[in-house]
Amino acid sequence: MRVFTYQSIVTSLLVLANASSVRAEAHGDYAACKAFPGTTDWPSEESWTKFNTSIGGKLIEPGPPPGAVCHPRESTFNPYQCAFVAAAWGTYDFHQNSPVSNMWQQFNNDTCLVGPNTPCSGAGYPAYVVNATTAMDIKLSLDFARKHNVRVVVKSTGHDFQGRSQAPGALSIWVHHMQSYKAHDAFRPTGCNFTIDTHAVTVGGGSQLGGIYEELDKINRTIVAGNSKSVSVGGFLTGGGHSILSPHYGLGADHILELEVVTPVGDILIANECQNEDLFWAMRGGGGSTFGVMTSVTLATHPTPKIVAGIIALYGLVNEPWVQDLIGYIASQFPYLVSNDVSGYAFFTYNTTTPNANNGIDILSGLIGEFMITDTQDIKDMQTIWEPILTHIKTTWPATVIMESLNPYSSFYSWFTVFYDQGAAGYNHYVGSRLLDEKALSINSTTLGKVFTDARASAYLVAGKGVREAKPRGGGLSVTPTWRRAVVHAVNGRIFTPLNSEARAEALKFVDNHTEPLRQLAPDMGAYVNENNPGERDWQHAFWGENYERLLQIKRTYDPEDVLWCAPCVGNERWEQIGYRLCRIDESSYKTDWTAGSHEHIISQRY
Ligand SMILES: Cc1cc2nc3c(=O)[nH]c(=O)nc-3n(C[C@H](O)[C@H](O)[C@H](O)COP(=O)(O)OP(=O)(O)OC[C@H]3O[C@@H](n4cnc5c(N)ncnc54)[C@H](O)[C@@H]3O)c2cc1C
Ligand SMILES: *[C@@H]1O[C@H](CO)[C@@H](O)[C@H](O)[C@H]1NC(C)=O
Ligand SMILES: *[C@@H]1O[C@H](CO)[C@@H](O)[C@H](O)[C@H]1NC(C)=O
Ligand SMILES: *[C@@H]1O[C@H](CO)[C@@H](O)[C@H](O)[C@H]1NC(C)=O
Ligand SMILES: *[C@@H]1O[C@H](CO)[C@@H](O)[C@H](O)[C@H]1NC(C)=O
Ligand SMILES: *[C@@H]1O[C@H](CO)[C@@H](O)[C@H](O)[C@H]1NC(C)=O
Ligand SMILES: *[C@@H]1O[C@H](CO)[C@@H](O)[C@H](O)[C@H]1NC(C)=O
Ligand SMILES: *[C@@H]1O[C@H](CO)[C@@H](O)[C@H](O)[C@H]1NC(C)=O
Ligand SMILES: *[C@@H]1O[C@H](CO)[C@@H](O)[C@H](O)[C@H]1NC(C)=O
Repeated sequence: MRVFTYQSIVTSLLVLANASSVRAEAHGDYAACKAFPGTTDWPSEESWTKFNTSIGGKLIEPGPPPGAVCHPRESTFNPYQCAFVAAAWGTYDFHQNSPVSNMWQQFNNDTCLVGPNTPCSGAGYPAYVVNATTAMDIKLSLDFARKHNVRVVVKSTGHDFQGRSQAPGALSIWVHHMQSYKAHDAFRPTGCNFTIDTHAVTVGGGSQLGGIYEELDKINRTIVAGNSKSVSVGGFLTGGGHSILSPHYGLGADHILELEVVTPVGDILIANECQNEDLFWAMRGGGGSTFGVMTSVTLATHPTPKIVAGIIALYGLVNEPWVQDLIGYIASQFPYLVSNDVSGYAFFTYNTTTPNANNGIDILSGLIGEFMITDTQDIKDMQTIWEPILTHIKTTWPATVIMESLNPYSSFYSWFTVFYDQGAAGYNHYVGSRLLDEKALSINSTTLGKVFTDARASAYLVAGKGVREAKPRGGGLSVTPTWRRAVVHAVNGRIFTPLNSEARAEALKFVDNHTEPLRQLAPDMGAYVNENNPGERDWQHAFWGENYERLLQIKRTYDPEDVLWCAPCVGNERWEQIGYRLCRIDESSYKTDWTAGSHEHIISQRY
């Protein structure tokens, strides 16, 4: 079933040749860089020991990376442990449970994979990890990093598609163990003189979606969050967060009532509509590890909906001249589906090979979608909505294979346990994406089919009415305002060979190039920061639109010394990664920075 997620669909895409790679420029002035292990300004053993004591012994020196047990030439080789590590390498759980690893290995620069013939070192991994469990641990970590000019990253699960939770030679604040759960029948935001009349939950800043859904299901409620057990609230909510329930209720971050945040200057603050309102706004969509570290968050919940959902597949053989028109026609029906409260994930396949009944193979192209409607248990309600679409398809392209498997689910959680993302991790992967509005989807459907095919895109039906009409506390969020008029979030991706800088550059070029037809289709729409790549052009406005300038101001207020730095993240323009080090850019060059040329320079330094 999971073979239909875009991660696997993209494996069959064409390899692009000869992507140009931009060479690094030498950077002479190392005094202008963050401290790095081995340099004279790196804190002494004694400082680290003192710091460790101050946080109750929660400092971890990672030692050899988790893949090191699989390298026969290294002293760390352990064939028994390697068998376990190699078997677990493809799971989300393995990388989330490691203090230093992450899902997409290019973000550790592939420096210690499990393959026995690959190199292994800790070079692409953080130098130290704080196994944080309290806001005070995080305050002390940020204070220490600020004082000693040490680079900081924040890791929760390591799911991030942009590598924002990884950095070589950094102090990593690992919030994964900050998982807690407390329910409220109503919620009075701290410092407000009123109570919000909604059921709510307060969870720790590292809490993972699967566990929250499971707890809430016991009282027949749910939060509005992503289709993954392991993604955490930390990255999900700070990026905005879409859900298959968003078309009904709004984005994940629309549900935030209050946050506890440790700011880069070391303050532990409550942000809500009555205090620190600017931080409250910025943390709801402005991106993770930028304005502070979220130690807990309170979210409004909903009664769990009754659901009808399942798979609808509509496809033909790849070489049939009409399959592209079929794809365009289906895409042109998204506004109709969304206006009828259908949500879901429309995975398009452009070239999927499957065995056929004659012991040969068929190469298929078309839709393999997961769709949902709520507040019913009658599958006929879904069939009625699809009926005119299927009639048109049967009449126009009679050779279309139509598969339908719909079921009632008595709660969101009973649907989720069947349909949650069960994909794999541990490999190298970039994704690209673009939000599309009704106007974009209303062009000639033949042309639309060509655009989707050129983009190799799938479409998530995770916006629409609920997102448009959301009433977030305090009046608004910092996500790009285009979310409010989006109909779908179109996504593509590219898996690539590790330890090959050309393959890496080509993959980044692939997602950029294939996202271009979507940009041209919807030039004013922007993109979702959490499902994108570090090469997005004019990322400041693509991810945040007209909110960028205010976000930048708030970043400068809460983090005047750039203690938190990531890319692509608000206010990061004063630094760039040179090799493994993070160094200041002199002002004259970063001011003119938001142009394509210097952008290529910046991303060529990262991976
Ligand atoms: C399998 C899978 C399914 C997904 N499904 C969805 C989906 O349905 N909807 C959706 O919107 N997105 C989805 N995503 C994208 C997801 O939202 C991002 O990958 C997100 O960055 C993950 O957040 P994390 O905290 O789990 O990961 P991490 O990589 O640990 O963190 C991501 C970013 O948030 C920062 N961060 C983490 N915790 C905190 C904190 N407590 N305070 C401050 N900053 C913090 C990190 O520094 C980093 O910048 C999915 C991703 C995957 C891999
Ligand atoms: C489908 O994929 C195969 C192998 O990846 C490739 O050779 C072929 O050209 C592709 N066909 C189309 C129509 O994209
Ligand atoms: C920090 O202190 C704890 C407890 O004393 C110890 O186990 C751990 O190894 C220390 N960490 C480092 C990096 O020295
Ligand atoms: C991190 O802290 C948690 C909670 O105290 C503990 O269960 C876990 O073993 C620690 N992990 C590591 C690697 O030290
Ligand atoms: C709550 O505080 C606001 C602003 O401080 C004030 O205008 C309002 O009268 C107060 N309401 C109550 C019920 O106390
Ligand atoms: C949840 O819903 C089920 C089925 O409708 C019901 O039997 C149960 O009592 C409900 N539980 C709570 C805690 O309300
Ligand atoms: C779309 O444009 C093509 C020509 O590019 C035309 O043949 C077709 O009829 C148009 N389709 C619709 C639905 O207007
Ligand atoms: C980019 O995509 C276009 C088609 O949209 C193609 O013609 C071109 O060769 C691609 N270039 C690269 C470098 O991938
Ligand atoms: C990443 O690793 C490659 C070797 O695979 C190396 O050539 C490159 O310099 C490394 N990147 C950085 C930033 O050091």
